[in-house]
Amino acid sequence: MVKPIIAPSLLAGDFSQLGCECHRMFECGSDWVHLDVMDGHFVPNITMGPPIITSLRNAVPKDKPVNKKFFDCHMMVSNPEQWVEEIAKSGGDQYTFHYESTKNPVELIKLIKSFNMKAACAIKPNTNVEVLFELAPYLDMALIMTVEPGFGGQKFMANMMPKVEELRKQFPNLNIQVDGGLGKGTVEIAAEAGANVIVAGTSVFKADDPSKMIEYLRNEVQV
Ligand code: DX5
Ligand code: ZN
Repeated sequence: MVKPIIAPSLLAGDFSQLGCECHRMFECGSDWVHLDVMDGHFVPNITMGPPIITSLRNAVPKDKPVNKKFFDCHMMVSNPEQWVEEIAKSGGDQYTFHYESTKNPVELIKLIKSFNMKAACAIKPNTNVEVLFELAPYLDMALIMTVEPGFGGQKFMANMMPKVEELRKQFPNLNIQVDGGLGKGTVEIAAEAGANVIVAGTSVFKADDPSKMIEYLRNEVQV
């Protein structure tokens, strides 16, 4: 059975205080933090990479059991094979590559797992959900993008929900993540479709009380 997982995106945090922001999100009750790695090539923006993730891991050490203080790394990069080892060494727990960025997703999944990370695959809004069907048995999570990747603060695309529904129908135990524009008024739609892992940047960081927002998001996820 899947469970609700809330993953605030640090992209909406204060980049001059990233360690504190990361720590703050876990204090506010988040299950994971979502780290958006962009290379300025796969997407038209540059954010953070392995050195910053290493610093964050030093600022926010892993607790035992391992799944606490979980770093969910969303790799919006053109050559995802190149960064697997470095992200693992930086302290990443999950490596989400984009289907559109690799020629050999099955080999990439094996590589990610050989470095003891969880493996996840993301699809952009124009990519069909069918591509995930044969990969799903090897994946720890699938990510259905609900905005064009590259920037925070965009509008949630409700027309992506049939992808979530189809995937959920076929894979009742798979973690299905949605990313982009999630908050009050949209998390309900994503949860209804079957998503259980909610990425939220703007809605959590701009909330008066981020703890309450995280709790709200978690309560909306149906399991
Ligand atoms: C967009 C990123 C998202 C983004 C979400 O490319 O993958 O993780 O930070 O931000 P909001 O929740 O503000 O849409
Ligand atoms: Zn993301």
